Amino acid sequence: MNLKILIIGSGGREHALSWIISKSNRQIEKIYVMPGNAGTLSERNVFNIECDISNHQAVLDFAITNKIDLTIVGPEVPLVEGISDLFEKNNLNIFGPKKYFAQLEGSKVFSKNFMSNNGLPTAEYKEFNNSQNAKAYLDTKKMPIVIKYDGLAAGKGVDICESVIDAKESVDNLLKPNDKIIIEEFLKGIELSAIYICNPNASKKNIGLTWVKDYKSRDEYNSGPNTGGMGAITHPFCSYKKNDIYSLNVEIEKIIIKTLVAINSGSESASKYNGFLYLGLMISTLDDKPYILEYNCRMGDPETQNIMLYLEKNNIDFLDLIGFDNEKYPDNFNLSFIDDNKYSGFCCTVVLAAKGYPDSPVKDFYIDLSGIKDTDTVKIFHAGTKISKGAIKVTGGRILTVNAFSESKQEAIDLAYENISKIKAFNDSDLKTENNELIFFRTDIGS
Ligand code: AMP
Ligand code: GLY
Repeated sequence: MNLKILIIGSGGREHALSWIISKSNRQIEKIYVMPGNAGTLSERNVFNIECDISNHQAVLDFAITNKIDLTIVGPEVPLVEGISDLFEKNNLNIFGPKKYFAQLEGSKVFSKNFMSNNGLPTAEYKEFNNSQNAKAYLDTKKMPIVIKYDGLAAGKGVDICESVIDAKESVDNLLKPNDKIIIEEFLKGIELSAIYICNPNASKKNIGLTWVKDYKSRDEYNSGPNTGGMGAITHPFCSYKKNDIYSLNVEIEKIIIKTLVAINSGSESASKYNGFLYLGLMISTLDDKPYILEYNCRMGDPETQNIMLYLEKNNIDFLDLIGFDNEKYPDNFNLSFIDDNKYSGFCCTVVLAAKGYPDSPVKDFYIDLSGIKDTDTVKIFHAGTKISKGAIKVTGGRILTVNAFSESKQEAIDLAYENISKIKAFNDSDLKTENNELIFFRTDIGS
């Protein structure tokens, strides 16, 4: 069968997904990315489609007209707004959870209550819809403390506050009329993204992807404002003792199994969770155990870029993993930690960002990638780019990621940095006025 696949989204995550699918062993007729970016345009057999993805009917019409066999949703907003419900109603195959399940990401109050009701480990919390009560509660708490806006906020809904004064100011900023916030205990530890592929129709119900550490803050050593992610490394615990890694894996497996059992037996049990389920975890320095910071109903960005290069270098067909046809679905698959016998290597992902990111990134300048080595161990995934006047024009705060693979972690890190350092920025599309102050990256990814 010649497959037609549609990927919704325009970031590095969607570029990485379209790239790995273009390498599938299956007969792929066409991969469409809606709307895509300059990177997706350059991949073999991948086509960008101009369409407003918030217009779900238009997306559905495209899928029907073009006889799409499988649609994969990259970002959270269409899922939270119910695109999977619409596709399922029209008997179209879509990989991404329905609106009810997407609340795990779309509402912090829903997800914290879900965790608490089901005995899942997470920071102690309380919800508020009244700022006076929230402030009185803060007077009784130890600092630092974390304030979270209930709904989606594109990475801007969480404040970590060092003082009561800051925390009260954050309440004023985040708590809007008729809205809610969560105030929760600050957890100290190491963050880990553990992403699962959950396919209720497949023989094995969930597949653990490679553990990845995402570097969330803008600047080195966890300083500066929170961002969508400035880089990633696979197997962040590779230096731990094997027994400790196994124990951690057992704890994380317990979390995913308990989560899926709870959600699949809830009020929407007629349809089960179908899609990626991302556990944002904090491995606590107090007891070395994982605590859930958040659920996401999608793959991470830049985690996807990191993981897709790792899968490709280990000859894994991504369409097998999402259970496109069950006979090829791997039976026993857990890439979470290093299995010496089967899979190997490390990927390092470094984000190139535009000056001013995340608050007010500069746009409409150009970058030159001609200095990058074109090898099969280095891969660029674009995010905020488009082709204009024959050059790569910057259209968003996270411009692209440089991803490098090696059997050695340090070599993967070195290779990513050697290449990202060669990218140049220009004021003009003729690439004559060099202005490298327009771009930056964190220098400590992988450490
Ligand atoms: P969230 O959207 O809930 O994952 O929060 C965004 C980021 O804020 C996380 O990736 C963490 O870096 C940080 N964060 C969230 N909750 C906590 C917490 N309870 N303790 C410490 N850091 C947190
Ligand atoms: N990199 C974090 C996220 O995708 O939510």
